[in-house]
Amino acid sequence: MDKLIDLRSDTVTRPTPGMRRAMAEAEVGDDVYGEDPAINALEERVAALMGHEAGLFVPSGTMGNQIGMRLVAEPGQEVLCDADAHVVTYEMGAAAAVFGLSTRTVVSDGGRLDADRLITQVRPKTDWHLTATAAIAVENTHNRGGGLVQPLGELQKLWNWSRDAGVAVHLDGARLFNAHVASGVELATYGRMADTASVCLSKGLGAPVGSVLVSSAERIGIARLWRKRLGGGMRQAGVLAAAGLYALDHHVERLAEDHEHARLLAKRLGVDESTVETNMVVLDDVPAPMLAEGAKAHGVLVSQVSARRVRLVTHLDVDRAGIERAADVLAELLDR
Ligand SMILES: Cc1ncc(COP(=O)(O)O)c(C=O)c1O
Repeated sequence: MDKLIDLRSDTVTRPTPGMRRAMAEAEVGDDVYGEDPAINALEERVAALMGHEAGLFVPSGTMGNQIGMRLVAEPGQEVLCDADAHVVTYEMGAAAAVFGLSTRTVVSDGGRLDADRLITQVRPKTDWHLTATAAIAVENTHNRGGGLVQPLGELQKLWNWSRDAGVAVHLDGARLFNAHVASGVELATYGRMADTASVCLSKGLGAPVGSVLVSSAERIGIARLWRKRLGGGMRQAGVLAAAGLYALDHHVERLAEDHEHARLLAKRLGVDESTVETNMVVLDDVPAPMLAEGAKAHGVLVSQVSARRVRLVTHLDVDRAGIERAADVLAELLDR
């Protein structure tokens, strides 16, 4: 059989030969001493791209999000977010289990940010009866929302309100590069509308490991302590940062290709193309287990989100021919 076409996630990519060379040639040092040149370069570069003072290389998006939220909320305070947010769905209750943070969720319209809906739920820090809302977490693009790009107007509205209200904003930007390429909005424009933000190198950008948490220099100093406490103080991890630097040089603009592939899949499978904003296609009202099994038998892997929902994610390890073959297999199984 031909090579497997893995559309389960953009996390499945393997480093390209060029990326592997960059990793092999990385200049490294002990990052716990702050002496790894590749890591220092990556942190500075991502912080600048995001319009923040400082950055911290962390092993995963989960660590970036959880430390990011802890920087802006104290134990016993709450973080408000939408009910389908990654931070409360897939991060194993870390906010509560590790940091003593309370989370409260608001049901959204398919993950789309509705600033007013969140704002009306905020509980003040000055009422001794209520759990204080310290921060709001926003996800862009939204994973369970099928890769949707958050509307700039809503982000701006939330940010403007938050400054007066004294409520912080954390951005889960695991796929912020996809949002940037799809919308043309600068990363720093998104970044400046958050007190803390985590961006991933190991999703669409194709690096094997790593995320960068950005914020003020003071907060990142505290984040460094938390990373060490959690066992995330890595040593010559510049080999990983080098993959991230390579990805920033070579894999950002090409995300447009993944987005085009997602639209192509949608078209072939009769999915409303307007629902495809970045690199994900959601197939609703389909027999997910049957479809996933049937596709697998033909060398195509897809994600079952629920019994009736399947998700396809395009990425740099699946080229146009692979997308066309996947579309043929899925169209046949769905009789479309
Ligand atoms: C939106 C979002 N945030 C955070 C993460 C966490 O990233 P990691 O798997 O590196 O912990 C993911 C992972 O897929 C994600 O989709």
